[in-house]
Amino acid sequence: MSKLDSFIRRMLAQRDCLNFAAGAIEQLPGPVLELGLGNGRTYDHLREVLPERDIYVFELVVKAFASCIPPEDRLFLGEVTLNLVRAAGILGKTAALAHCDLGTSDKRKNAGLAAQIAPLLDPLMAPGGIVVSNMPMVGDGWSNLPEPPGVKAGRYFLYQVEG
Ligand SMILES: C[S@@+](CC[C@H](N)C(=O)[O-])C[C@H]1O[C@@H](n2cnc3c(N)ncnc32)[C@H](O)[C@@H]1O
Repeated sequence: MSKLDSFIRRMLAQRDCLNFAAGAIEQLPGPVLELGLGNGRTYDHLREVLPERDIYVFELVVKAFASCIPPEDRLFLGEVTLNLVRAAGILGKTAALAHCDLGTSDKRKNAGLAAQIAPLLDPLMAPGGIVVSNMPMVGDGWSNLPEPPGVKAGRYFLYQVEG
């Protein structure tokens, strides 16, 4: 498969998983966490599909489209592993949805980061909350959810936190 096809399929999987998760949390109140603002594409999508939710964003350096920069009081700027601890102290176990889109093309480094993130994210997640991730994660009491129709296994990852 060409790099272009592979990229397109990953983006489709990302969007389909976010849409699935947005529907799945309909009855679950609480904010949304976006880990990795990047250009702001998925942040913008989450804003569009979940207009009533507060979205808290975690990012090392803001370099997003000007229209996709979150308000200052919703932005945890700096190292995500430190800021997740800070956020847990402020928000507690309230997040209905977390989308983790961190990392680079270095798969080994990404695996290390994913292993660090899950235990730091867990204290922020409401019971029954959904985690959508570009990397496989193992969270205490998290169960794997099946991919939405059309998304190939292993392309994007969905978890539900113990209810
Ligand atoms: C793949 S991009 C996110 C793309 C974004 N979701 C979008 O749709 O445009 C990953 C982002 O994670 C951020 N990032 C990576 N490691 C990080 C860390 N340790 N702490 C905070 N942000 C980090 C990078 O700066 C980068 O902007």
